[in-house]
Amino acid sequence: MPPARSAPAPGRPRLVPEPTQLQSLPGRFTFDATTALKVSPGAEGAAALLRTLLGPATGLPLPARADGSVVLALDRALGGLGEEGYGLTIGTEGVLLRAARPRGLLAGVQTLRQLLPVEALRAEPVPGVAWSVPCAQITDIPRFPWRGSMLDVARRFRPVSYLRRYVDLLALHKLNVLHLHLTDDQGWRMPVPALPRLTEVGGLPHGGAYTRAELGGLVAYAAERGVTVVPEIEMPGHVRAALAAYPELGNHPGRTYEVWDRWGVCDTILGVHDQALDFCRTVLDEVMDVFPSPYVHVGGEECPTDEWHVSPAARRRAAEEGLPGPAALHGWFMERIGEHLLAAGRHPLSWTEDGADLPPYFTVMPWRDAEHGRTAVRRGHRVIMAPHRTTYLDYPQSAGPEEPPGQAGEVVDLRTVHGNDPAPAHWSPEEAGRVLGSQVQLWTEYVPTPAHAEYLTFPRLCALAEVVWTGRHDWPGFQERLRHHRTRLDALGVPRRPDAAPASAPVPAPAP
Ligand code: ACM
Repeated sequence: MPPARSAPAPGRPRLVPEPTQLQSLPGRFTFDATTALKVSPGAEGAAALLRTLLGPATGLPLPARADGSVVLALDRALGGLGEEGYGLTIGTEGVLLRAARPRGLLAGVQTLRQLLPVEALRAEPVPGVAWSVPCAQITDIPRFPWRGSMLDVARRFRPVSYLRRYVDLLALHKLNVLHLHLTDDQGWRMPVPALPRLTEVGGLPHGGAYTRAELGGLVAYAAERGVTVVPEIEMPGHVRAALAAYPELGNHPGRTYEVWDRWGVCDTILGVHDQALDFCRTVLDEVMDVFPSPYVHVGGEECPTDEWHVSPAARRRAAEEGLPGPAALHGWFMERIGEHLLAAGRHPLSWTEDGADLPPYFTVMPWRDAEHGRTAVRRGHRVIMAPHRTTYLDYPQSAGPEEPPGQAGEVVDLRTVHGNDPAPAHWSPEEAGRVLGSQVQLWTEYVPTPAHAEYLTFPRLCALAEVVWTGRHDWPGFQERLRHHRTRLDALGVPRRPDAAPASAPVPAPAP
């Protein structure tokens, strides 16, 4: 007899995010050593992922066979499911997972994984568990196509092994973007063969730098899980580490720089001479070579223009370009870079307040106020909402004395993240239609260890995932499901806040 801890509890499966439509049916389907997969052409990736994810705990081989009882079917006729939607039918004799596109199948695999006993998520073999899932009929389509998390690996380097784990955790929640903040004043983690000093000098503080092979491997690993790695290279501000490597890119001929050892907004920025622009193009060409992401993030925010105001070369450039003054060089600079990315077939992406000095072909991430997002969509930008008061995970998640120190100024608790509404109902349909989605951001000034990064990320990332997948804000329902979902995070070894915290009340016996 299987141990009590895996005994199925009756009731509706408790999934995060909640599926669009879920009808519970009587009975269960059990995966065992004889279970085989019937894999249609194009569904091989989903089959491989299912084996990879279930293998460590269950040891199930799940071979492919023409008469397999678990059918993974790619069917382009199911266009109504979109790029990432799927249908999942579980009966006592078999499972049918269908989607129009491979990413839909990958999302469905994650649902199957959550439906299994929570022990299925463990990294080591768990004997004696009945690997059963409740019978159900599910149709599930995400509300937003951009569902992401930004990780700042510039302030604190994290090894690729950690990034892979992070990708796994995103995929479990059906998030599809890992936005990697690769460069900043305090560090440069992106290797560029033509510019070796970037990582030799800029990679030193707080950790290291990636190799091209590591980043390529990460991109492939993420793609197998339905996650796109979106690279970010900061410009024309937040570049102190690059200036430490190549001071001639700055505004002060003859000056040398240290990689910045403080937090905050640094006032040294790139020059606007041809050499600085060529540098950015060289870096971005390498970035595009390594990262197939359709979107390339070029930073753009927190760029004090004081250096341009006093630099004769910058003032000359502003005059030559017919700009009203050196401050306008920011938009001019971004447009030069945007043109370069567009010519290479990529979408330029930038932090912004409301997109005021960016061409409308820039996709933007409004990060100050949510209302800036509306101004940006009205200017014609496509928008990914990243307002700091609801999506910045470097703020403490409670005001309580037990909370470790974090970024000062706000408290972003679980409910606040859940309240993030990327396209509020009072926006016009045209405005809402330009909102691609939303993401959480983990800046790492106050995040010394990988464990602390996970402590800050979970469960707040679960709330973001719920909102961007469902487009709904069912707070009581989310809390109820999260209570069970925490047992999944526990099985994955994700550090969590103490149980005394309201959102982690005592957990009932695990059942999906
Ligand atoms: C930002 O918080 N620097 C986008």
